[in-house]
Amino acid sequence: MSKDKVQIFDTTLRDGEQVPGCKLNTAQKIVIAKRLDELGVDIIEAGFPVSSPGDFKSVEEISKVVKNATVCGLTRAVKKDIEVAAQALKYAKKPRIHTGIGTSDSHIAYKFNSTREQIIERAVDAVKYAKTFVEDVEFYAEDAGRTDNEFLARVCEAVIKAGATVLNIPDTTGYCLPEDYGAKIKYLKENVKGIDNAILSCHCHNDLGLATANSIAGVINGARQIECTINGIGERAGNTALEEVVMVLKQHPALNLDTGINTKLLYSTSQLVIENMGIYVQPNKAIIGANAFAHSSGIHQDGMIKNRETYEIMNPEDVGVNESAIVLTARSGRAALAYRAKKVGYELTKIQLDKVYVEFLNFADNKKEINNNDIHTIIKSSNLDNSIPA
Ligand code: KIV
Ligand code: ZN
Repeated sequence: MSKDKVQIFDTTLRDGEQVPGCKLNTAQKIVIAKRLDELGVDIIEAGFPVSSPGDFKSVEEISKVVKNATVCGLTRAVKKDIEVAAQALKYAKKPRIHTGIGTSDSHIAYKFNSTREQIIERAVDAVKYAKTFVEDVEFYAEDAGRTDNEFLARVCEAVIKAGATVLNIPDTTGYCLPEDYGAKIKYLKENVKGIDNAILSCHCHNDLGLATANSIAGVINGARQIECTINGIGERAGNTALEEVVMVLKQHPALNLDTGINTKLLYSTSQLVIENMGIYVQPNKAIIGANAFAHSSGIHQDGMIKNRETYEIMNPEDVGVNESAIVLTARSGRAALAYRAKKVGYELTKIQLDKVYVEFLNFADNKKEINNNDIHTIIKSSNLDNSIPA
Protein backbone atom coordinates (compact mmCIF):
# COMPACT_ATOMS: atom_id res chain seq x y z
CA MET A 1 0.00 0.00 0.00
CA SER A 2 1.45 3.38 -0.95
CA LYS A 3 2.07 5.82 1.87
CA ASP A 4 0.04 8.98 2.40
CA LYS A 5 2.04 12.15 1.82
CA VAL A 6 2.46 14.59 4.71
CA GLN A 7 3.45 18.00 3.37
CA ILE A 8 6.32 19.71 5.15
CA PHE A 9 5.74 23.44 5.59
CA ASP A 10 8.96 25.04 6.76
CA THR A 11 8.66 28.28 8.71
CA THR A 12 12.30 28.70 9.77
CA LEU A 13 12.45 31.99 7.87
CA ARG A 14 9.23 33.35 9.40
CA ASP A 15 8.27 31.88 12.79
CA GLY A 16 11.89 30.80 13.39
CA GLU A 17 13.34 34.14 12.49
CA GLN A 18 10.98 35.94 14.93
CA VAL A 19 13.31 34.81 17.74
CA PRO A 20 15.36 37.64 19.21
CA GLY A 21 18.94 37.34 17.95
CA CYS A 22 17.99 35.15 14.95
CA LYS A 23 17.60 38.01 12.48
CA LEU A 24 18.93 37.14 9.04
CA ASN A 25 19.69 39.40 6.11
CA THR A 26 18.27 38.72 2.66
CA ALA A 27 21.43 37.02 1.40
CA GLN A 28 21.42 34.60 4.33
CA LYS A 29 17.72 33.90 3.86
CA ILE A 30 18.30 33.08 0.21
CA VAL A 31 21.02 30.58 1.12
CA ILE A 32 18.71 28.88 3.63
CA ALA A 33 15.71 28.94 1.28
CA LYS A 34 17.74 27.28 -1.48
CA ARG A 35 18.85 24.60 0.94
CA LEU A 36 15.27 24.01 2.15
CA ASP A 37 14.25 23.57 -1.47
CA GLU A 38 17.01 20.99 -1.93
CA LEU A 39 15.98 19.27 1.29
CA GLY A 40 12.59 18.74 -0.33
CA VAL A 41 10.22 20.79 1.83
CA ASP A 42 6.87 21.37 0.15
CA ILE A 43 6.30 24.93 1.34
CA ILE A 44 8.74 27.61 2.45
CA GLU A 45 7.17 30.34 4.55
CA ALA A 46 9.58 33.06 3.53
CA GLY A 47 8.39 35.88 5.77
CA PHE A 48 5.72 38.37 6.76
CA PRO A 49 6.03 40.88 3.90
CA VAL A 50 4.09 43.77 5.43
CA SER A 51 6.16 43.67 8.61
CA SER A 52 9.20 45.50 7.17
CA PRO A 53 10.77 46.50 3.85
CA GLY A 54 13.55 44.01 4.57
CA ASP A 55 11.10 41.15 4.98
CA PHE A 56 9.27 42.19 1.81
CA LYS A 57 12.56 42.15 -0.10
CA SER A 58 13.49 38.73 1.30
CA VAL A 59 10.17 37.19 0.28
CA GLU A 60 10.49 38.74 -3.17
CA GLU A 61 14.07 37.49 -3.68
CA ILE A 62 13.31 34.03 -2.32
CA SER A 63 10.34 33.82 -4.70
CA LYS A 64 12.75 34.35 -7.60
CA VAL A 65 15.19 31.57 -6.67
CA VAL A 66 13.09 28.74 -5.26
CA LYS A 67 12.63 26.07 -7.92
CA ASN A 68 10.34 23.41 -6.49
CA ALA A 69 8.69 24.46 -3.24
CA THR A 70 5.64 26.67 -2.84
CA VAL A 71 6.69 30.06 -1.44
CA CYS A 72 4.38 31.44 1.20
CA GLY A 73 3.91 34.86 2.80
CA LEU A 74 2.15 35.46 6.12
CA THR A 75 -0.53 38.09 6.62
CA ARG A 76 -3.05 39.15 9.20
CA ALA A 77 -6.69 39.25 8.12
CA VAL A 78 -6.03 42.76 6.88
CA LYS A 79 -6.41 43.93 3.27
CA LYS A 80 -3.14 45.85 3.18
CA ASP A 81 -1.18 42.82 4.47
CA ILE A 82 -2.71 40.64 1.78
CA GLU A 83 -1.97 43.12 -1.01
CA VAL A 84 1.64 43.48 0.11
CA ALA A 85 2.11 39.71 0.41
CA ALA A 86 0.69 39.18 -3.08
CA GLN A 87 3.13 41.74 -4.45
CA ALA A 88 6.11 40.17 -2.66
CA LEU A 89 5.15 36.76 -4.04
CA LYS A 90 4.69 37.88 -7.63
CA TYR A 91 7.81 36.05 -8.91
CA ALA A 92 7.03 32.78 -7.14
CA LYS A 93 6.36 29.76 -9.36
CA LYS A 94 3.92 28.52 -6.74
CA PRO A 95 2.76 31.36 -4.45
CA ARG A 96 0.68 30.88 -1.31
CA ILE A 97 -0.88 33.49 0.95
CA HIS A 98 -1.19 32.46 4.60
CA THR A 99 -3.82 34.61 6.23
CA GLY A 100 -5.74 34.28 9.46
CA ILE A 101 -7.01 35.57 12.76
CA GLY A 102 -7.25 34.55 16.42
CA THR A 103 -10.25 32.34 17.16
CA SER A 104 -10.00 31.54 20.89
CA ASP A 105 -12.32 33.41 23.24
CA SER A 106 -9.33 35.09 24.83
CA HIS A 107 -8.01 36.36 21.46
CA ILE A 108 -11.50 37.47 20.41
CA ALA A 109 -12.12 39.36 23.66
CA TYR A 110 -8.68 40.81 24.47
CA LYS A 111 -6.87 41.07 21.14
CA PHE A 112 -9.77 42.05 18.95
CA ASN A 113 -12.45 43.28 21.37
CA SER A 114 -14.80 41.52 19.01
CA THR A 115 -17.38 38.74 18.78
CA ARG A 116 -17.31 35.24 17.29
CA GLU A 117 -19.61 36.32 14.44
CA GLN A 118 -17.40 39.27 13.54
CA ILE A 119 -14.31 37.04 13.60
CA ILE A 120 -15.90 34.62 11.12
CA GLU A 121 -16.77 37.55 8.90
CA ARG A 122 -13.21 38.89 8.96
CA ALA A 123 -11.80 35.43 8.30
CA VAL A 124 -14.05 34.90 5.28
CA ASP A 125 -13.33 38.37 3.89
CA ALA A 126 -9.57 37.83 4.22
CA VAL A 127 -9.66 34.47 2.44
CA LYS A 128 -11.88 35.83 -0.34
CA TYR A 129 -9.59 38.80 -0.80
CA ALA A 130 -6.45 36.63 -0.86
CA LYS A 131 -8.14 34.44 -3.47
CA THR A 132 -8.33 37.42 -5.81
CA PHE A 133 -4.49 37.32 -5.95
CA VAL A 134 -3.53 33.65 -5.69
CA GLU A 135 -5.21 30.27 -6.01
CA ASP A 136 -3.42 28.74 -3.02
CA VAL A 137 -4.73 30.29 0.21
CA GLU A 138 -4.00 28.88 3.65
CA PHE A 139 -6.03 30.06 6.63
CA TYR A 140 -4.71 29.99 10.22
CA ALA A 141 -7.00 30.01 13.23
CA GLU A 142 -4.56 31.48 15.73
CA ASP A 143 -4.77 29.88 19.18
CA ALA A 144 -6.85 27.04 17.75
CA GLY A 145 -5.35 24.90 20.51
CA ARG A 146 -7.49 26.79 23.03
CA THR A 147 -10.44 27.38 20.72
CA ASP A 148 -13.67 25.57 21.41
CA ASN A 149 -13.96 22.77 18.81
CA GLU A 150 -17.50 23.57 17.77
CA PHE A 151 -16.67 27.19 17.00
CA LEU A 152 -13.42 26.17 15.31
CA ALA A 153 -15.40 23.85 13.04
CA ARG A 154 -17.71 26.73 12.09
CA VAL A 155 -14.71 28.91 11.23
CA CYS A 156 -13.13 26.14 9.16
CA GLU A 157 -16.34 25.49 7.26
CA ALA A 158 -16.76 29.17 6.47
CA VAL A 159 -13.20 29.68 5.20
CA ILE A 160 -13.32 26.52 3.08
CA LYS A 161 -16.46 27.91 1.44
CA ALA A 162 -14.57 31.16 0.90
CA GLY A 163 -11.81 29.28 -0.92
CA ALA A 164 -9.18 28.24 1.64
CA THR A 165 -7.41 25.07 0.56
CA VAL A 166 -5.30 24.55 3.69
CA LEU A 167 -6.51 25.01 7.26
CA ASN A 168 -3.81 25.66 9.81
CA ILE A 169 -4.78 24.65 13.36
CA PRO A 170 -2.06 26.24 15.49
CA ASP A 171 -1.43 25.34 19.08
CA THR A 172 -0.04 28.84 19.36
CA THR A 173 0.71 28.66 23.08
CA GLY A 174 1.96 25.06 23.14
CA TYR A 175 -0.75 24.12 25.64
CA CYS A 176 -2.39 21.03 24.16
CA LEU A 177 -1.78 17.45 25.18
CA PRO A 178 -1.19 15.10 22.24
CA GLU A 179 -4.53 13.32 22.85
CA ASP A 180 -6.40 16.62 22.87
CA TYR A 181 -4.66 17.97 19.80
CA GLY A 182 -5.24 14.70 17.94
CA ALA A 183 -8.90 14.72 19.02
CA LYS A 184 -9.26 18.29 17.74
CA ILE A 185 -8.03 17.29 14.28
CA LYS A 186 -10.30 14.24 14.30
CA TYR A 187 -13.26 16.41 15.32
CA LEU A 188 -12.61 18.77 12.42
CA LYS A 189 -12.22 15.87 9.97
CA GLU A 190 -15.58 14.51 11.09
CA ASN A 191 -17.57 17.70 11.53
CA VAL A 192 -16.51 20.25 8.94
CA LYS A 193 -18.46 20.18 5.69
CA GLY A 194 -16.10 20.26 2.71
CA ILE A 195 -13.06 19.21 4.79
CA ASP A 196 -12.12 16.61 2.18
CA ASN A 197 -11.37 19.46 -0.22
CA ALA A 198 -8.86 20.98 2.18
CA ILE A 199 -5.67 19.94 3.98
CA LEU A 200 -5.52 20.23 7.76
CA SER A 201 -2.19 21.53 8.98
CA CYS A 202 -0.48 21.16 12.38
CA HIS A 203 1.42 24.17 13.74
CA CYS A 204 2.53 23.31 17.26
CA HIS A 205 4.65 25.35 19.63
CA ASN A 206 6.89 23.73 22.18
CA ASP A 207 6.11 25.49 25.47
CA LEU A 208 5.56 22.19 27.26
CA GLY A 209 7.99 20.21 25.12
CA LEU A 210 5.08 18.59 23.26
CA ALA A 211 5.33 20.15 19.81
CA THR A 212 6.58 17.04 18.03
CA ALA A 213 4.20 14.72 19.88
CA ASN A 214 1.27 17.01 19.09
CA SER A 215 2.16 17.25 15.40
CA ILE A 216 2.43 13.48 15.16
CA ALA A 217 -0.92 13.10 16.95
CA GLY A 218 -2.31 15.53 14.37
CA VAL A 219 -1.19 13.53 11.35
CA ILE A 220 -2.28 10.25 12.93
CA ASN A 221 -5.74 11.80 13.15
CA GLY A 222 -5.90 13.05 9.58
CA ALA A 223 -3.83 16.23 9.23
CA ARG A 224 -1.64 16.13 6.11
CA GLN A 225 0.69 19.08 6.63
CA ILE A 226 3.14 19.85 9.44
CA GLU A 227 4.50 23.35 10.03
CA CYS A 228 7.95 23.22 11.53
CA THR A 229 11.40 24.79 11.69
CA ILE A 230 14.95 23.53 11.41
CA ASN A 231 16.30 22.82 14.92
CA GLY A 232 12.84 23.65 16.30
CA ILE A 233 13.68 27.34 16.57
CA GLY A 234 10.82 29.77 17.06
CA GLU A 235 8.94 31.98 19.48
CA ARG A 236 9.58 31.22 23.18
CA ALA A 237 10.35 27.49 23.46
CA GLY A 238 10.18 27.15 19.70
CA ASN A 239 8.22 25.35 17.02
CA THR A 240 8.00 21.71 16.04
CA ALA A 241 11.47 20.58 14.89
CA LEU A 242 11.41 19.57 11.22
CA GLU A 243 14.12 16.94 11.67
CA GLU A 244 12.14 15.30 14.48
CA VAL A 245 8.79 14.91 12.73
CA VAL A 246 10.44 13.78 9.52
CA MET A 247 12.43 11.09 11.30
CA VAL A 248 9.49 9.98 13.46
CA LEU A 249 7.51 9.28 10.29
CA LYS A 250 10.48 7.61 8.59
CA GLN A 251 11.32 5.38 11.56
CA HIS A 252 7.70 4.31 12.04
CA PRO A 253 6.66 2.83 8.70
CA ALA A 254 3.51 1.37 10.30
CA LEU A 255 2.08 4.90 10.36
CA ASN A 256 2.12 4.69 6.56
CA LEU A 257 3.00 8.37 6.20
CA ASP A 258 5.80 9.81 4.13
CA THR A 259 7.31 13.29 3.82
CA GLY A 260 9.59 12.91 0.81
CA ILE A 261 12.36 14.83 2.63
CA ASN A 262 15.95 14.01 1.67
CA THR A 263 16.90 13.07 5.23
CA LYS A 264 20.61 12.82 4.38
CA LEU A 265 20.65 16.63 4.27
CA LEU A 266 19.16 17.10 7.76
CA TYR A 267 22.41 17.44 9.68
CA SER A 268 24.10 19.84 7.27
CA THR A 269 20.92 21.93 7.01
CA SER A 270 20.81 22.16 10.79
CA GLN A 271 24.44 23.31 10.81
CA LEU A 272 23.71 25.89 8.11
CA VAL A 273 20.92 27.39 10.21
CA ILE A 274 23.10 27.37 13.34
CA GLU A 275 25.92 29.14 11.50
CA ASN A 276 23.66 31.79 10.03
CA MET A 277 21.44 32.44 13.04
CA GLY A 278 24.12 32.00 15.67
CA ILE A 279 21.71 29.99 17.83
CA TYR A 280 23.23 26.73 19.06
CA VAL A 281 21.29 23.59 19.90
CA GLN A 282 21.78 21.59 23.08
CA PRO A 283 24.09 18.55 22.67
CA ASN A 284 21.27 16.15 23.55
CA LYS A 285 18.94 17.58 20.86
CA ALA A 286 17.23 14.73 19.02
CA ILE A 287 18.56 13.87 15.55
CA ILE A 288 21.07 16.70 15.05
CA GLY A 289 22.57 17.37 18.53
CA ALA A 290 26.28 16.64 19.07
CA ASN A 291 25.43 13.66 21.29
CA ALA A 292 22.52 12.28 19.27
CA PHE A 293 24.72 9.40 18.06
CA ALA A 294 27.39 9.43 20.78
CA HIS A 295 27.72 6.63 23.31
CA SER A 296 29.70 7.07 26.48
CA SER A 297 28.71 4.55 29.13
CA GLY A 298 30.56 1.23 29.20
CA ILE A 299 27.43 -0.92 28.93
CA HIS A 300 26.10 1.00 25.93
CA GLN A 301 29.48 1.08 24.21
CA ASP A 302 29.91 -2.66 24.59
CA GLY A 303 26.46 -3.21 23.05
CA MET A 304 27.13 -0.76 20.23
CA ILE A 305 30.44 -2.37 19.31
CA LYS A 306 28.71 -5.77 19.13
CA ASN A 307 25.77 -4.45 17.11
CA ARG A 308 24.80 -0.82 16.42
CA GLU A 309 21.09 -1.57 16.73
CA THR A 310 21.40 -2.44 20.41
CA TYR A 311 21.38 1.26 21.25
CA GLU A 312 20.48 3.09 18.05
CA ILE A 313 17.05 3.17 16.45
CA MET A 314 18.24 4.94 13.33
CA ASN A 315 21.31 4.96 11.17
CA PRO A 316 23.30 8.21 11.61
CA GLU A 317 24.06 8.15 7.88
CA ASP A 318 20.34 8.51 7.19
CA VAL A 319 20.43 12.01 8.67
CA GLY A 320 23.81 12.93 7.22
CA VAL A 321 25.98 12.14 10.25
CA ASN A 322 29.02 10.10 9.17
CA GLU A 323 29.11 7.63 12.00
CA SER A 324 28.17 6.99 15.61
CA ALA A 325 30.72 8.14 18.17
CA ILE A 326 32.10 6.02 20.95
CA VAL A 327 33.15 8.69 23.42
CA LEU A 328 35.80 7.66 25.90
CA THR A 329 35.22 8.86 29.45
CA ALA A 330 35.78 7.46 32.92
CA ARG A 331 32.45 5.64 32.45
CA SER A 332 33.74 3.69 29.43
CA GLY A 333 34.66 0.03 29.60
CA ARG A 334 37.40 -2.17 28.18
CA ALA A 335 35.46 -2.89 24.97
CA ALA A 336 35.36 0.79 24.04
CA LEU A 337 39.00 1.30 24.95
CA ALA A 338 40.12 -1.71 22.86
CA TYR A 339 37.93 -0.48 19.97
CA ARG A 340 39.47 3.01 20.00
CA ALA A 341 43.00 1.69 20.55
CA LYS A 342 42.57 -0.49 17.46
CA LYS A 343 41.33 2.51 15.47
CA VAL A 344 44.49 4.43 16.29
CA GLY A 345 46.76 1.48 15.56
CA TYR A 346 47.10 -0.73 18.67
CA GLU A 347 45.89 -4.33 18.66
CA LEU A 348 45.89 -5.12 22.41
CA THR A 349 45.92 -8.59 23.91
CA LYS A 350 43.63 -9.23 26.88
CA ILE A 351 46.51 -8.89 29.35
CA GLN A 352 47.73 -5.69 27.74
CA LEU A 353 44.23 -4.29 27.71
CA ASP A 354 43.82 -4.90 31.45
CA LYS A 355 47.02 -2.98 32.09
CA VAL A 356 46.13 -0.10 29.77
CA TYR A 357 42.64 0.08 31.25
CA VAL A 358 44.02 0.82 34.73
CA GLU A 359 46.11 3.65 33.30
CA PHE A 360 43.15 4.85 31.23
CA LEU A 361 40.88 5.16 34.29
CA ASN A 362 43.49 7.21 36.16
CA PHE A 363 43.76 9.49 33.16
CA ALA A 364 40.01 9.68 32.49
CA ASP A 365 39.14 10.58 36.08
CA ASN A 366 40.99 13.84 35.50
CA LYS A 367 39.72 14.61 32.02
CA LYS A 368 36.22 14.96 30.59
CA GLU A 369 36.90 13.10 27.35
CA ILE A 370 39.82 11.02 26.13
CA ASN A 371 41.00 11.80 22.61
CA ASN A 372 43.28 9.89 20.23
CA ASN A 373 46.44 11.68 21.40
CA ASP A 374 45.58 10.70 24.97
CA ILE A 375 45.37 7.05 23.87
CA HIS A 376 48.98 7.19 22.61
CA THR A 377 50.07 8.78 25.90
CA ILE A 378 48.17 6.23 28.00
CA ILE A 379 49.59 3.28 26.09
CA LYS A 380 53.13 4.65 26.30
CA SER A 381 52.86 5.12 30.03
CA SER A 382 51.36 1.65 30.55
CA ASN A 383 54.81 0.02 30.21
CA LEU A 384 53.75 -2.68 27.80
CA ASP A 385 56.30 -4.88 26.08
CA ASN A 386 57.55 -4.06 22.58
CA SER A 387 55.25 -6.52 20.85
CA ILE A 388 52.58 -3.87 20.41
CA PRO A 389 52.68 -2.35 16.98
CA ALA A 390 52.93 1.41 17.24
O1 KIV B 1 1.69 30.21 16.24
C1 KIV B 1 0.85 30.71 15.47
O2 KIV B 1 -0.34 30.73 15.73
C2 KIV B 1 1.36 31.30 14.24
C3 KIV B 1 0.35 31.76 13.24
C4 KIV B 1 0.63 33.18 12.85
C5 KIV B 1 0.33 30.85 12.08
O3 KIV B 1 2.54 31.36 14.02
ZN1 ZN C 1 3.66 29.98 15.35
